[in-house]
Amino acid sequence: MFWLFVFLSCLPPHSSALRRNDKPIIGVLAQDVFSPKPNKTAYVAASYVKFLESAGARVVPVMINQTREEYERLFNSINGILYPGGGVSIISSGYARAAKIFYDLAIQANARGDYFPVWGTCLGFEQLTYLTSGKNLLSYTNTSGVSLPLHFTNDTKTSRMFKGFPAELMDDLASEPLTENSHKWSVSLLTFNKNKKLNKFYKVLSTNTDGQTEFVSTVEAYDYPIYGTQWHPEKNAFEWTKPYIPHSPAAVKTTFYMAEFFIGEARKNFHTFDSEEAERKALMYNYSPVYTGRKSGFEQTYFF
Ligand SMILES: *[C@@H]1O[C@H](CO)[C@@H](O)[C@H](O)[C@H]1NC(C)=O
Ligand SMILES: *[C@@H]1O[C@H](CO)[C@@H](O)[C@H](O)[C@H]1NC(C)=O
Ligand SMILES: *[C@@H]1O[C@H](CO)[C@@H](O)[C@H](O)[C@H]1NC(C)=O
Ligand SMILES: *[C@@H]1O[C@H](CO)[C@@H](O)[C@H](O)[C@H]1NC(C)=O
Repeated sequence: MFWLFVFLSCLPPHSSALRRNDKPIIGVLAQDVFSPKPNKTAYVAASYVKFLESAGARVVPVMINQTREEYERLFNSINGILYPGGGVSIISSGYARAAKIFYDLAIQANARGDYFPVWGTCLGFEQLTYLTSGKNLLSYTNTSGVSLPLHFTNDTKTSRMFKGFPAELMDDLASEPLTENSHKWSVSLLTFNKNKKLNKFYKVLSTNTDGQTEFVSTVEAYDYPIYGTQWHPEKNAFEWTKPYIPHSPAAVKTTFYMAEFFIGEARKNFHTFDSEEAERKALMYNYSPVYTGRKSGFEQTYFF
């Protein structure tokens, strides 16, 4: 009896917290190409796939223009979703439509205890601010092609995102230009602070400025595993087409620790495909990226 008591008392109060999915699969949202051709209507930059794979996940593409039923089935099969950067409308594109469906499903799932993480990078971040606020709150900033140090807020200390980062890397992020910005549009800190829907939903973890406008550069939702960076964590390790992408050891560690954090979140989700066959068919491994480095900002791109 005594030993039974000792044994039980060693269990944490919620032993379900010990459950972990070591085979996470992340959906990466495709987006409409600028000039569609047969078999080339949407794309995913390969760097997002490598980013997620480097931290122990597998990837499935989330195609645009699918039915709501298809998206619901996919949502219940994957363990998180990433909205990548790019250049399509956050209001009317195929990307925007799919992003809204998955965002709404994620909010509902998380509210009933089904932990489903969502990550937005650059355009994906902007898309998240649109989905949360219901408004296009973007304004112009001179930030299309510059690496910046993060200006951390006081809330960074209590964040989930940066909790596992080495102290030395946090110092480097705050002092060296390790975060690559490729955007003309931003949510200014003033606009963010004035919008109740945004500032109640997201904690601001970092800001940046173009010299004129202070804008929000990293957020995490208070009550949901929803994360956004206006900058590009995936580029430091995997993109080489632009001279302003940093590749120092600290820059490459930044890529890895961001991925590591997000995949850690995805390991808390237990969605699975209906069968191994369905899983195999969905995986990105069915597609081959092509070399696009000479004419685009991406070294390799998947086309669908
Ligand atoms: C498009 O892809 C399908 C199957 O992936 C292939 O059968 C077809 O020939 C392709 N069409 C073009 C125009 O490349
Ligand atoms: C996706 O839907 C949009 C808007 O309905 C349409 O303009 C586009 O051609 C579609 N793309 C594909 C690949 O079907
Ligand atoms: C935009 O920023 C760059 C540095 O990133 C600077 O060289 C340029 O002068 C700026 N342009 C304007 C219009 O402020
Ligand atoms: C952040 O913390 C510092 C030191 O505690 C304090 O001086 C500063 O006012 C705080 N900033 C904000 C925006 O709360």
